[in-house]
Amino acid sequence: MAAVLEIKVRKVGLFGAEIEGIDLARLSNAEVDAIKAAWYRHDVIFFRNQRLTDDDLLAFSRHFGTLDPPPNQGAGRKSPPGYPDVYIVSNVLDVRGEPIGALGDGEAAWHTDMSYLPHPPDASMLYSLEIPASGGDTCFASMKLALAKMPKALLERVVGLDIKHDGTYDSGGNLRKGLAASNDPRTSVGTAHPIVIEHPVSGEPALYLGRRRNAYVMGLELAESERVLEALWSFVETTVYRHRWALGDLVLWDNRTTMHRRDAFDAKARRVMHRTQIKGSAAPRRASLRALQRLERLRD
Ligand code: SIN
Repeated sequence: MAAVLEIKVRKVGLFGAEIEGIDLARLSNAEVDAIKAAWYRHDVIFFRNQRLTDDDLLAFSRHFGTLDPPPNQGAGRKSPPGYPDVYIVSNVLDVRGEPIGALGDGEAAWHTDMSYLPHPPDASMLYSLEIPASGGDTCFASMKLALAKMPKALLERVVGLDIKHDGTYDSGGNLRKGLAASNDPRTSVGTAHPIVIEHPVSGEPALYLGRRRNAYVMGLELAESERVLEALWSFVETTVYRHRWALGDLVLWDNRTTMHRRDAFDAKARRVMHRTQIKGSAAPRRASLRALQRLERLRD
């Protein structure tokens, strides 16, 4: 007789879900399947009260694909010793006064992880080891719902266009190591991706914006590109899930269908998170007619 699954999926708002009744360090195959199904359905899922070592975090991450090494961030060390695929996000300083991780205590702007690369990660997950008493919330925007809210005329204007995703600065506004500063989005380093993409597994369409700084709609005059970008970005904050962290939370997001940002927090407080990324299985694919027809049904 098949074992009864105790897992409970609780939707938390317009999108996102908490998964209850799971120990991520001890997963059965049936639980992994259920988690994947919930992830595809809800785009952002989270688990409370976990106790994970870095090995546990890596083992859980590998259920979703091959690990992607951390990004080139502006400041701070990247990984704990012996764990090159774990990315430390932290404001804590080591004994020499060097940051042990990336992004400090400031605000991190809306972004898709590493979308300045040809194959951005499919997924990322963040596990909380130390958190401040307040601040440092992470917000997620559903780019599927943002797309569904856009007027048809704007969709028709952009559906065949690409955006250049800038790779010069990280989401904290820091210049990435080894790169030259640039404020010209037409010439800065980065990769162009379709503005409206299709999820390779679910087939659902999503808006794909990356990050605002140094973004550029390929082929347009700069002023016109800015006008189109402003119009697109006005839909980003229409559907947000705000994650208020507790110790031992793990949040997993689909990097193709969501963007995220982080609130600033008290510089005197400590925040230590460990993140992993899952290698992109493919380059972001322009939404097909079939995917756009699904969108029409969502609007009706
Ligand atoms: C990230 O952008 O991956 C970090 C978000 C956070 O620090 O909450």
